[in-house]
Amino acid sequence: MLDLAQEHLPIHLTSLARRYGNIYRLNCGNTTMVILNNSEIIREALIKKWSDFAGRPHSYTGDIVSSGGRTISLGDFSEEWKAHRRVAHSALHRCTRDSLHSVIEKQAHHLCQVLWDYNGKSVDLSEDFTVAASNVITTLTFGKSYDKSSVDLKKLQDSLNKIVSLWGSPWISMLDSFPLLRKLPNPPFSRLMKEIARRDELIGKHIEDRTVALQKKAISGPGFLKLETQNENNKIIYTHVHMTTVDLLIGGTETTSALLNWTVAFLLHRPEVQNKVYEELCGVLDVRYPQYSDRHRLPYLCALINEMLRLRPVAPLAVPHRAIRNSSIAGHFIPKNTIIIPNLYGAHHDPEVWDDPYSFKPERFLEGGGGSLRALIPFGGGARLCLGEAVAKMEMFLFTAYLLRDFQFLPASKEKPLPDLRGVASVVLKVKPYTVIAHPREQ
Ligand code: HEM
Repeated sequence: MLDLAQEHLPIHLTSLARRYGNIYRLNCGNTTMVILNNSEIIREALIKKWSDFAGRPHSYTGDIVSSGGRTISLGDFSEEWKAHRRVAHSALHRCTRDSLHSVIEKQAHHLCQVLWDYNGKSVDLSEDFTVAASNVITTLTFGKSYDKSSVDLKKLQDSLNKIVSLWGSPWISMLDSFPLLRKLPNPPFSRLMKEIARRDELIGKHIEDRTVALQKKAISGPGFLKLETQNENNKIIYTHVHMTTVDLLIGGTETTSALLNWTVAFLLHRPEVQNKVYEELCGVLDVRYPQYSDRHRLPYLCALINEMLRLRPVAPLAVPHRAIRNSSIAGHFIPKNTIIIPNLYGAHHDPEVWDDPYSFKPERFLEGGGGSLRALIPFGGGARLCLGEAVAKMEMFLFTAYLLRDFQFLPASKEKPLPDLRGVASVVLKVKPYTVIAHPREQ
């Protein structure tokens, strides 16, 4: 029997792979899940046989959280879902091409200013990283960014975080397996319903404000929210636009900020790595701030980012897939409706693929270092590839480069232990809270 409440489920599933092999089956109640733990096997399911495994599991509570499956992340594979993803993808692509760079640059400068203002104090930076990542998404979606103290931002984040945590609670997930319980009073479920109503009111208001501002030409911007609702034979309705905003806010905030937080935590353990990045930045760019187009001339910085994505894939178990029809993976028969869990954490720690897989070694991604970009799959792949991959890559590059150009990260004090690098995994794999000193570099 699998304990799904393990503090670090991906590590647990990875240890099972060492015992039972890279593909194994688990029965949880009346649900059968197949866990994939190696990048070639994951690629076979998600990329080569994408049309067999592009479904998402159905559930009573999932339907409620996603307005009847009308999110990109939780919606099942259908003509309506394909139209939704296509429209969102091209709108996001337009933003990425036209304005994303300047949006991230602005947030990176702002983040550095916030760190300067700490004046060498020892602080927990996780909230600042969350605000920076969230501001990138709210600029694209609402044409607005917020300060850490903003009530609007707090309300929005609080509501989204509560929904994610309530939805994951056993009091609510048991409603999926035992329909009779839905008739009994269930306070956590009532709280979830209230929170969903609050989320929809907040998002609805932001979308309305944005539409009015655009009509009055009070703001100009990428216009992401003007996803054309009449597009694709009227398949895309207002609810899709609304839920796309939820998708981007949830998918694009905690992930990017968790990865930045991991990066600083690892650099505290290995100060020579941040010095190497700093020297590379100074050598190549002199005093100017980096552009995304500089990435080809900054191999060590890119190697650091790849190593972080490998060691701490922040969506360690991706999002569950569902077999749409009978198929096979690695020669094993997979019946229709089987739930497929791509264990990206396991794939990134596979000793058959990675030398010394648990060690932090950015050099493995330098030329001749032996690291395999093909086996690096932090964003999944195929029809369900992370919608924000391009956004996340640009954010990771610019945020990390700005931070390491302007600051040296130092341990909070000699007495305090360095950050615990094991982390806690729920939907997102996060480092446990720690404090750090951001010491300004002399330019
Ligand atoms: C889905 C990783 C950032 C939006 C996913 C999936 C992974 C992932 C593994 C699941 C793929 C699957 O089901 O097989 C990451 C990582 C990020 C990141 C590692 C940052 C380091 C972002 C950002 C956005 C975003 C910045 C939005 C701008 C989404 C959406 C989905 C998704 C909407 C659902 C896609 C679908 O079901 O078709 N992401 N993500 N993600 N991500 Fe990301």
